[in-house]
Amino acid sequence: MFQHVQPYAGDPIFALVDAFNADARPHKVNLSIGIYFDEQGRLPVLDSVRGAEALILAAGGAKPYLPMEGDARMRTEVQKLLLGAGHPAIAAQRVATIQGVGSSGGLKIGADFLRTWLPDSQVWVSDPTWDNHRSMFEGSGFVVNTYPYYDAASGGVRFEAMLQALRGLPARSIVLLHACCHNPTGVDLTREQWQALVPVLRERELLAYLDLAYQGFGDGIAEDAYAVRALADAGLTFFVANSFSKSMSVYGERCGALTAVCADAAEAALVLGQLRYTVRRVYSSPPLHAAQIVAHVLGDAELRGMWEGELAAMRERIAAMRRALHDRLVQRLPGRDFSYFLTQRGMFSYTGLSAAQVDRLREEHAVYLIRSGRICVAGLNLGNVERVAEAMAAVMSTR
Ligand code: LMR
Repeated sequence: MFQHVQPYAGDPIFALVDAFNADARPHKVNLSIGIYFDEQGRLPVLDSVRGAEALILAAGGAKPYLPMEGDARMRTEVQKLLLGAGHPAIAAQRVATIQGVGSSGGLKIGADFLRTWLPDSQVWVSDPTWDNHRSMFEGSGFVVNTYPYYDAASGGVRFEAMLQALRGLPARSIVLLHACCHNPTGVDLTREQWQALVPVLRERELLAYLDLAYQGFGDGIAEDAYAVRALADAGLTFFVANSFSKSMSVYGERCGALTAVCADAAEAALVLGQLRYTVRRVYSSPPLHAAQIVAHVLGDAELRGMWEGELAAMRERIAAMRRALHDRLVQRLPGRDFSYFLTQRGMFSYTGLSAAQVDRLREEHAVYLIRSGRICVAGLNLGNVERVAEAMAAVMSTR
């Protein structure tokens, strides 16, 4: 029956985590997957999340099904987090939100919805992007293309080339954009660039699909939602999939959402209805515990304050590690420009290391990163940054 099934080569990120876990070398360092580890190299459990879980238990712990669209309180809190409380789009009821299974689940439900309702559209992702974007949209039946994004020569964005590519797309093309903390490059659009993008999206009738997986890891919670708010302020219709995996350190709980900002309340109601139906056909309804955690952390004033402080501490520790790695590399390889570590935002840095250099780092130095040269800066700490800098300098000195 299944002898014709193709072998699965494995996911480039998860396979590397498996290889890291199997590595017996005690000094190994994991800079592969986008997970925040604390200064001791541990996966933190946030006090705000513990507090939310205490409230959930105290409430009795019954486990009913959630509706297809998820928990109402969580969905309301997500809209406020993304757009800012009191945003006119929320007041006008032109925002439709469903709870996701992480942001990946939201992305996928959105992709399936779009495949049904914009069947002639194609998808455009940044070059490069998170590997799974392509797989997800192709899995929904889309043709996936790329638009120019990262400029290896300058370490910036090829913004004019990006705009030019988008201007040439057919109406209703779906444009996947990273709202902040671009994965894998760490190189974001500036506010001015987002503003310059708005008329192109409007005039070309493009559907922006924002991925917001790292809100709070760039400059702050509201600051990192700039793109969402700019598009909503401009009256555009767009999608945004957001995640709490990293910002609340709840990876396996699958906390996230998908939000459609629509033209008006009637359109939002239609979109919500079909998103609910898409959920029903795929997994029926989302996880209860995830919704309760997010609803309590965002909605309870005390837990909210605690969470914002904990998220700020994670953001600041990553920024400190960026400086630590930068300074150590500058010492070891004077004359080379490592300023990109300081200007890139969020968990990731694009190091420019070749796949061969990445292989050497893993094989000779037990430092794990994905073969595009992306490192997860949140895997660094004061106990391993010296060794990582030494290893990187060693492979950078030879080709
Ligand atoms: C990553 O890019 O490492 C994270 O988003 C985790 C994942 O699912 O790939």
